[in-house]
Amino acid sequence: MIPAPNYPYAFIDHIIISEEEIRQRVDTLGEQITNDYKDSDKLVLLGLLRGSVMFVTDLMRKVRRPLTMDFMSVSSYAGSTSSGFVRIDSDHKSNIHGWDVILIDDIVDTGYTINTVRKLLMDRNPRSLKTCALLDKVERHKVEIDIDYLGFSIPDYFVVGYGLDIDEKGRNLPYIASVNLERYQDLYGKS
Ligand code: IMP
Ligand code: MG
Repeated sequence: MIPAPNYPYAFIDHIIISEEEIRQRVDTLGEQITNDYKDSDKLVLLGLLRGSVMFVTDLMRKVRRPLTMDFMSVSSYAGSTSSGFVRIDSDHKSNIHGWDVILIDDIVDTGYTINTVRKLLMDRNPRSLKTCALLDKVERHKVEIDIDYLGFSIPDYFVVGYGLDIDEKGRNLPYIASVNLERYQDLYGKS
């Protein structure tokens, strides 16, 4: 593990996935999606705000198919512990009835978020629905889930960067870094 350079965020521990590793993995996922959706002219990438924004915008450039992009915002998380409860704060704008939807989140932790949103979208009758996540903390799943397109499995660290945050901080880091939660608490109090 590479110690993170002295970035504005003093609570960063280590870079666990570099910019270059992310770029390569996103290329591969884009390639897979391009192949899997050869016959689709109604593909929509549906990202969950705000953590998936960087991932969605990078990934969409690597998909060589006609597609549209949409977002929805749900909350399920207060600080660093999941509540297992998902509320829609802002719904997607386009009608997904008859569309091939890829639901995209930044990270799967307990699995509640992606699982609940997935079920909710199924009721809206898409032609197909697949899931995609940049990161997955497999050890922490509390529900059975299947991620169709996964970037990386990671150990049980709290991570920030490439869109992911801790209380809105850290999203602009171009890599994925682990958070030193003790140092974070010293700086900002309990997250
Ligand atoms: P789940 O519902 O427990 O799977 O939680 C997923 C959501 O929790 C993600 O969309 C993230 O917003 C947030 N989350 C979980 N782990 C992390 C982390 O390590 N860093 C930043 N956000 C996280
Ligand atoms: Mg999120």
